Amino acid sequence: MQTTILDALLPGFRDAAIAEAARLLLAGEIVAFPTETVYGLGAGAFDPAAIERVFLAKGRPSDNPLIVHLADPSQIDECAIAGRRARLLAAAFMPGPLTLVLPSLDTVPAIARAGLPTVALRVPAHPIAAALLALTGPLVAPSANLSGRPSPTTAMHVYDDLAGRIPAVLDGGPCPVGIESAVVDLSREDAVLLRPGIITVEQIEAVLGEKVLVGGGDHSAPRAPGMKYRHYAPTAVVRLLIAPEIPSLPPNPRRVILTLSRYMNAFPGEDVRPLQESTVYALFREADAARIEEIVIYVRPGELEAGLLDRIRKASANERES
Ligand code: TXA
Ligand code: MG
Repeated sequence: MQTTILDALLPGFRDAAIAEAARLLLAGEIVAFPTETVYGLGAGAFDPAAIERVFLAKGRPSDNPLIVHLADPSQIDECAIAGRRARLLAAAFMPGPLTLVLPSLDTVPAIARAGLPTVALRVPAHPIAAALLALTGPLVAPSANLSGRPSPTTAMHVYDDLAGRIPAVLDGGPCPVGIESAVVDLSREDAVLLRPGIITVEQIEAVLGEKVLVGGGDHSAPRAPGMKYRHYAPTAVVRLLIAPEIPSLPPNPRRVILTLSRYMNAFPGEDVRPLQESTVYALFREADAARIEEIVIYVRPGELEAGLLDRIRKASANERES
């Protein structure tokens, strides 16, 4: 299969590119598209045959459910039962990088939910995703990487993983957020943050006016099925150094240092890159391609946001497990 890149960046081509992506999706094909977080691999949310192709193209285990993407929060009621808390969070954060897990209606095919009674819903804030969803209606969209690779934040990342496996990638340039959405489960008595994102637990608690449990630490808390899979880790050893003082490191020409912009001048002679959500996955991909041996991440205590810290912890899992 030839994989076409549909260029939605050039103003004169944008509408035609989005229309062609919508045409393919409405014909039952799968197409990658940009969102504000990461690129998603889309398929019609009510089309079980297309959804099956998404699992196949990614090599994704069939027990890991997908997020249904909507053009507008008013479409939540077509897919799920939304109560007071869902309406509060939707009003505060949708469109935006927040996913809600709610009791599903049977309009959503079981394959999209991996058989669960709940469904994950999100309204992306990216203008190209919004324009596409307005033409196609609801789309399932997991991150558009091969299972086991970092989420893609450019169309080229998608192409590197899925060329020959999908008919098209809608290119909307780099994703501004760069890490996946925060996932909040509202299907039980307690609200639970299953996956941290750039929207913080404090922001969610302020809107709900109640305590939110954080999945992972507490064994009684339910978890996103995706969290049980081994996550992507670069070939390089990832070393997270949280310390008040700048560390002194033995020389290693195959090392990259990621740190906050204010410390970038503190490592003379080293390959130092800015540590930020928007480029962290691109850096992991580059480090692998350049055969980097060690990625050192330096911050002072309390400086890392929960979403970025979570992704770095997962990337360093190789080192901690072996
Ligand atoms: O930012 C994002 O959320 C991106 C963009 C493309 O929208 N999508 C994304 O999808 O990251 P994916 O499939 O890579 O991650 C979805 C996560 C997985 O951990 C999955 O297990 C969890 O959401 N999830 C989906 N449905 C769920 C459900 N019904 N209950 C609990 N967790 C669910
Ligand atoms: Mg993913």
